[in-house]
Amino acid sequence: MSLQGKHIVLGISGSIAAYKSAIITRLLVKKGAEVQIVITPAGKEFITPVTLSALSGKPVVSEFFASGDGTWHSHVDIGLWADLMIIAPATAATIGKMAGGIADNMLVTTYLSIKAPVFVAPAMDLDMYKHVSTQRNIEILRRDGVHIIEPTEGELASHLEGKGRMEEPENIVAMIEQFFATGKSLDKKKILITAAPTYERIDPVRFIGNFSSGKMGFALAEACAVRGAEVTLVTGPSALSVSHTGVTRIDVESANQMYEAAMRIFPQMDAAILAAAVADYRPEHQWDEKIKRKDDENLTIRLTPNPDIAAALGNNKNDRQIMVGFALETNNEVQNALNKMDKKNLDFIVLNSLQDEGAGFGHDTNKITILSKNGQTKTFGLKTKTEVAEDIIETTLSGFFAKKTTF
Ligand code: CTP
Repeated sequence: MSLQGKHIVLGISGSIAAYKSAIITRLLVKKGAEVQIVITPAGKEFITPVTLSALSGKPVVSEFFASGDGTWHSHVDIGLWADLMIIAPATAATIGKMAGGIADNMLVTTYLSIKAPVFVAPAMDLDMYKHVSTQRNIEILRRDGVHIIEPTEGELASHLEGKGRMEEPENIVAMIEQFFATGKSLDKKKILITAAPTYERIDPVRFIGNFSSGKMGFALAEACAVRGAEVTLVTGPSALSVSHTGVTRIDVESANQMYEAAMRIFPQMDAAILAAAVADYRPEHQWDEKIKRKDDENLTIRLTPNPDIAAALGNNKNDRQIMVGFALETNNEVQNALNKMDKKNLDFIVLNSLQDEGAGFGHDTNKITILSKNGQTKTFGLKTKTEVAEDIIETTLSGFFAKKTTF
């Protein structure tokens, strides 16, 4: 793999790990990338611009204005020039400023001007990393579409052991290479993704729902868009947001609404990923007024089946369309998943077992097995939902559109 001709902005903030930025620069340059370094004032306390400009072959940018002649350093120009920005090391302060849009230095100002993908490699002490404020800011960045390169565990500058060590330069550069290699494998493909639970109204204030957060479907939407796809995300109620401009979001509430939206859109689509946790039943009758409590009577709500969206789309699928569904199972997992794939005319099914710790609803992680209608099986370890989304896309859609018959 090579990074020949890629324009990479390397942001450096004030952490002991800044010495590793010199190695990152060297590795990127060796692989053919052009590297523009933007360093915070605190970063310069840890590594000198002289070292960095010697390695990158370009003046290092730190201040808004050049000290000698007052020339303005244009963060906008850097933003337009970049194919990718990586902030490594990213301190808690820089992450917080990025999350809050506090552009009081050249690094954060450049971040706000960047149109290209952004990666962040945090480095800090274990308690700072664990702090609710840091975790909240990282989550904000994630939601904003920033790729977080998780720190590793080990000895920290404080001599304490824990999570907070910046990922090694070789691995960071490998991730960047992988990112470019993945490239636009879904360029201009139109992809329908369903996500999140559906709510089935009982009366004006109550509903039947489930614990799905939408994280898996939203991560898939984002990952498809990063690969160049035009995604339509039909989502039930979810607190999540999407930032990628390649995702068009359609909000629905009930299974019937999701069915109607999906059926309307599907004929124009190249693929569909059904990640929604659709309620299988809805109340047969919806009360117009709030149901009043009666102490001496049981309340019975009769339920009637909802449409099976995946099966309906599967019925209408043509040879050029590909469909991926999910199966969340508690027992006899593989057989149940295979039956579902068949019944719904899916090409692939992603199996989650509730017997696996850290898998399924609400978690940030997931553990999956992908089964294909050709009888292939691929099992993955416990990963973040973002990583799982990458695995699903690489194994199913990317291979299909590259006309590969096996995975
Ligand atoms: N699905 C759907 N519409 C439904 C129910 C499910 O589109 N009304 C989709 C889900 O998004 C998922 C797949 O079908 O991709 C399997 O969902 P699951 O709830 O596991 O399967 P069900 O068919 O509902 O089977 P059961 O609840 O009996 O396990």
